[in-house]
Amino acid sequence: MRTVPRSVREEARRLREEIEEHNRLYYDEAAPAISDDEFDRLLERLIALEREHPEIRTPDSPTLRVGGAPSDKFETVVHSVPMLSLDNTYSPEELVEFDARTRKLLRAESLDYAVEFKLDGVAVALSYRESVLARGATRGDGSAGDDITANLRTLRSIPLRLRGDPVDLEVRGEVYLRFTDLEKMNERQEEIGGRSFANPRNAAAGSLKLLDPAEVAKRPLRFLAYQIVSPLALGVRTQLEAIETLRAFGFARTEGASLCRGIDAVVRRCEEMSEERHRLPYGTDGVVVKVNDLSLHVRLGATSKSPRWGIAYKFPAEKKTTVIRRIVLQVGRTGAVTPVAEVDPVRLAGTVVRRATLHNEEEIRRLDARVGDRVWIEKSGEIIPRILGVEPGERKGDEEPFRFPDACPVCGEPLERAEGEVVVRCENPSCPAQVRRRIVHYASRDAMDIEGLGIKVVEQLADSGLLAEIPDLYRLQKEALVPLERFGEKSAENLLRAIEESKSRPLDRFLFAVGIRHVGRTTARAIALRFQTIEKTMRAGEDELAAVGDVGPVVARSALHFFESAKGRLLVEDLLAAGVRPAPVEGPAKETSALRGKKIVLTGTLASLTREEARERIEAAGGKAVASVSAKTDLVVAGDSPGSKKTKAEALGVRVIGEKEFLSMLEEK
Ligand code: IVH
Repeated sequence: MRTVPRSVREEARRLREEIEEHNRLYYDEAAPAISDDEFDRLLERLIALEREHPEIRTPDSPTLRVGGAPSDKFETVVHSVPMLSLDNTYSPEELVEFDARTRKLLRAESLDYAVEFKLDGVAVALSYRESVLARGATRGDGSAGDDITANLRTLRSIPLRLRGDPVDLEVRGEVYLRFTDLEKMNERQEEIGGRSFANPRNAAAGSLKLLDPAEVAKRPLRFLAYQIVSPLALGVRTQLEAIETLRAFGFARTEGASLCRGIDAVVRRCEEMSEERHRLPYGTDGVVVKVNDLSLHVRLGATSKSPRWGIAYKFPAEKKTTVIRRIVLQVGRTGAVTPVAEVDPVRLAGTVVRRATLHNEEEIRRLDARVGDRVWIEKSGEIIPRILGVEPGERKGDEEPFRFPDACPVCGEPLERAEGEVVVRCENPSCPAQVRRRIVHYASRDAMDIEGLGIKVVEQLADSGLLAEIPDLYRLQKEALVPLERFGEKSAENLLRAIEESKSRPLDRFLFAVGIRHVGRTTARAIALRFQTIEKTMRAGEDELAAVGDVGPVVARSALHFFESAKGRLLVEDLLAAGVRPAPVEGPAKETSALRGKKIVLTGTLASLTREEARERIEAAGGKAVASVSAKTDLVVAGDSPGSKKTKAEALGVRVIGEKEFLSMLEEK
């Protein structure tokens, strides 16, 4: 092996440090010390040295930020602890209720809270091993996401190596863009014929999904850390300490975070922050309120969706006026017909709004909304903008009241309105609008996740006669796609690969995708966890279905009806015949488990479990099975004839439990 001259190693080490320090000054302190050109020269020098002497490359080299080799697809990462989401509140009263609930659970008089801005971006998890960034993943469905390490390494605000002594650590935070960066990025996208993004969150999500890290490196993404997973193991006891610790590790400063003693202080601070947010260079959609004492997080645990230690306070929605130019009818996948107003474009909460929902016929009548009217619209969070009311006194007098048609605007069949319902439906299941929406739903991210199959492509394929029902997807041929407009060899191959990959999606996604009435994502997951295979699910009786948690009698009947109906049965059989094989789903580690985040050592023989089984159960409950006892060990499980580990644990004051207690902790929720 060639030896690398010491001077080269030294120079490379110095360059790495210098470059990372300049990164930090630029992204963290917003105080660059050198020009961009000078920075590029340092980086180029390091790239040249590493190219000449590949041995000197390190896993934390800033040259990795330029972007590695493109990949075909992302690997799946199962999260060590599920990535949940927070419950939302919209008023001070709801915050007070949250506080009362939390204090009751903890039997506390008053609680200290940490409040932070809620960044409007994309959540990611970063794992550091011995302080070096080892893996970065998206949230995905909360229990597993995509491995996007190569993409995340390109973000200069993500440290590739943490400052301080080596640690193993998982950090969670938000990838986001500044408003000005989004504008610049959109300009560039337009120049190169790419699509521009409506808001910073979409831009962040779209960029992180790119398969070529070199492309991601060109996007102005940033990262802010807001959570340390298992903070207690590091001796971090409060959320404010966690924020300080993250900063000491080299993450950017979180703006506006503060300690509030008692809920009244929280409410006051939320009001201040809803003003302060207008001065921030990035989008925020609320405040996150967290119990400051992290040991209480363990005690409070979580529901299946969200932790009990925190809540999001959403800022009141922004409102603006604009003019209705047209009212069009949209037919959804279930046949529901929704009137939508096309309006003069207005910028609202960081996006340009062109359409706003009018919900239904009654709502139009209630608002008396007419084409030509000036109206107030609002946008809150994810929800599409809605029309709040007509601005009085601006009518010219020639505006006509809207007449709801009697026939479906797409298939011409008569529209029906069921007794006591406000929704008008097109009852023709073969209505092209419904069929197309059903296919889009089937392919959507939360369902079978077929990338590149949005409404535009579905309409194009349907118009070309290639797609009449969902199973046709699996019969598409490359030769038929290539000649179509906007398609080429590469995009046809990509689409067919995405379709092929969807064949082995887990059962819960499949059950959600086929569109069983009342079966949403959570219910689909509960059913899939219980029955594991599509065959067993189809054989299940009403009582068996109704006995699944999250499934009530209405849902059970609806699922049964679906599988008994010719339409439902044929769809599933057709998909299975086309090669779709829904995979069984694994239950996630419960965030509420008593073993969550604990380092556990096993010693001696257990009567009911093998060593391997015990280890698996610990990991499934969110704990970590470690080999040797140290002061950092949380628990030692001692079976029959335990060895020296038990003695050592006792000497160190580490808690030792027997098999029975261990088993009951595994069951605990
Ligand atoms: S704490 C259980 N802190 O908001 C998740 N989240 O629904 C606890 N977010 O998915 C997250 N800013 O993507 C936390 N300062 C902040 C945040 C924040 C934005 C996002 C995050 C999460 C969602 C909550």
